[in-house]
Amino acid sequence: MKKTTISLFCIFIFCLTAAGSELTNTGYAGSNACQPCHEDQYNSWKTSKHAAEFKPEQKDTQACNACHTTVSGMFVENNVGCEACHGAGEEHAGGGDKTKIVSNKSADICGRCHNGNQSDNTRWTEEYRPGMKLADIKGLKLIPVAPDKLAPSVKDIHPSLTYNMWLVSGHAKTPDRNIEINGKKWEGPVTCTACHNPHNSSGKAQLVMDPMELCKSCHFQGEVLKGFGAKGIEETRSLHTAAACIACHMTEKNHLMKMFRPDDPNLAENRLDSCSDCHEIKDRKMRTAQLHDMESWYNEAFDPLQKELKMIDEKLKANPDILNAELKARLADTKDNLSIIINDGSNGVHNLDYALEIMSQAKRDFKVIKEVIK
Ligand code: HEC
Ligand code: HEC
Ligand code: HEC
Ligand code: HEC
Ligand code: HEC
Ligand code: HEC
Ligand code: HEC
Ligand code: HEC
Repeated sequence: MKKTTISLFCIFIFCLTAAGSELTNTGYAGSNACQPCHEDQYNSWKTSKHAAEFKPEQKDTQACNACHTTVSGMFVENNVGCEACHGAGEEHAGGGDKTKIVSNKSADICGRCHNGNQSDNTRWTEEYRPGMKLADIKGLKLIPVAPDKLAPSVKDIHPSLTYNMWLVSGHAKTPDRNIEINGKKWEGPVTCTACHNPHNSSGKAQLVMDPMELCKSCHFQGEVLKGFGAKGIEETRSLHTAAACIACHMTEKNHLMKMFRPDDPNLAENRLDSCSDCHEIKDRKMRTAQLHDMESWYNEAFDPLQKELKMIDEKLKANPDILNAELKARLADTKDNLSIIINDGSNGVHNLDYALEIMSQAKRDFKVIKEVIK
């Protein structure tokens, strides 16, 4: 019974689309065939850019179809349809057998199109099927991006090098800590779908949540920017407390999450550094000086503390019971506080006032402790 309804439905779809395109590709059903059983995914996909009909200005679209339509040897439909990401679904659509459809959160599924490689792409698409690894496609040439260098300008490359950048970023590695995203445990590397809803969302760029909340949901640096969390330290805001993570870390939407430092010799003249991007005065020299000031004020306070801590630890090793319970607890708190600014990784840039506050408290604590253990 169910099967009849579906095939009748498919005939209907065929009639609808036959004028513009041909649904001759074996194994493919077309996105409309998925709608009756997957209303939610269909409706949200329908409002996405993936679902928009591809209307190129030029006539020869052979080079574009690989990414802008659903093709696999043959043409399926004139947009990025369900099956571009889920693979051929005719068999699955016949009854909903889960084993007959691909569904996973591998970045390769997206990387096949989001890779900046216009000229070579047709070949990939012919060979690639969702579920495969891009790396398994022989002779595949991915425009290389180095993790320590800046990626080429997104504006000059079509499409952007999103996948290439992601692949060498920290997000492509499997983290060694527990991560929750949208209230669910996240396993494996932080792939595209950790941040993007594959179908669509109400926010921009299909993000699963507001970008400010997104980064903070996994990174404690949000607390550093706001200046709270350290024991015995009052909340300390700074000029950049309200700055969005992506303002500094995703300049030009770079998915390396790499801050474009104003002092980076590899940053071409015509590109904005991450600091100048926000500030009205776009002066790289001035921003370099400010960044260096922040970092040197941080280091000047931090270096002596590190030496003192080493000395204290050595003394305590030789004489473990010299501190009373109260001082022991105080030392533990101070170490925790210092580890916040060490793990933060920004050398004070995220919130210099807060880092300095933590360090002056540590200095006072160390003074008291040193009196006892000298
Ligand atoms: C390798 C895959 C790929 C190929 C080949 C490709 N595109 Fe794209 N195109 C994309 C992706 C992915 C985007 C989404 C924006 C981005 O990430 O750069 C896009 C975006 C676009 C946009 C929207 C631009 C915007 O700023 O919103 C247009 C128009 C476009 N492409 C036209 C074309 C034309 C015309 C061709 C053929 C000459 C082509 N594309 C070939 C992948 C491709
Ligand atoms: C741009 C790629 C892409 C397109 C287009 C796409 N999907 Fe998905 N879909 C995914 C990915 C990736 C997942 C797996 C997400 C995960 O496991 O976190 C998924 C998951 C699903 C699921 C499992 C439940 C869920 O929502 O996670 C269903 C059902 C589904 N898609 C149906 C569809 C249908 C129907 C369409 C077309 C109307 C469609 N998808 C279009 C990438 C896509
Ligand atoms: C006859 C109804 C029906 C049609 C038509 C249908 N599906 Fe499904 N689909 C199901 C059922 C049932 C499940 C299993 C749900 C479950 O067990 O959670 C499912 C599951 C899925 C999943 C998740 C698989 C997983 O491993 O979790 C994806 C992705 C999916 N469908 C995509 C599609 C796509 C793409 C189409 C169109 C080509 C389509 N479906 C057409 C009924 C259908
Ligand atoms: C078959 C090629 C293809 C695949 C596979 C694909 N995309 Fe796209 N994507 C495109 C194209 C083409 C566009 C631009 C469409 C336009 O602007 O008309 C686009 C646009 C986008 C956008 C921009 C949306 C916006 O509102 O600006 C996001 C985000 C995106 N894709 C994420 C993904 C993710 C995540 C995946 C994998 C789950 C994926 N894409 C898989 C081709 C693809
Ligand atoms: C850690 C989170 C995160 C991951 C992982 C991630 N993105 Fe994004 N992506 C973002 C954010 C945030 C933006 C919006 C940036 C902005 O607006 O400045 C974005 C923007 C985009 C855009 C829109 C770019 C444009 O020019 O409009 C595309 C396309 C995209 N991402 C694709 C992908 C793909 C494909 C992957 C996987 C290879 C991926 N993203 C992985 C967070 C992420
Ligand atoms: C789903 C969790 C998750 C989300 C969301 C997320 N990250 Fe990450 N991020 C990680 C993990 C895991 C690492 C790997 C290092 C680690 O364990 O901290 C990482 C690493 C980084 C790094 C170090 C880069 C490198 O190459 O080593 C930066 C910078 C970063 N993320 C910025 C961001 C920004 C900005 C956002 C928001 C757009 C964001 N992250 C969203 C989990 C996440
Ligand atoms: C005012 C600019 C700015 C803002 C805003 C900002 N960062 Fe940073 N961040 C930096 C700088 C500078 C570094 C040091 C790395 C460098 O110089 O490239 C850094 C370092 C990091 C690192 C460590 C990177 C590594 O390679 O170990 C992570 C993770 C990070 N930031 C996450 C975030 C998150 C999450 C947010 C938002 C809550 C955020 N940042 C907001 C400027 C900023
Ligand atoms: C999200 C936008 C944004 C980014 C990115 C950003 N700033 Fe700011 N910055 C601000 C705002 C807002 C203020 C406070 C208002 C003001 O004084 O202009 C500020 C204030 C400052 C000040 C003190 C006031 C002044 O102009 O002398 C300095 C110094 C500064 N920023 C340097 C930097 C440096 C260095 C970077 C890169 C690491 C950076 N900013 C990145 C928005 C930003």
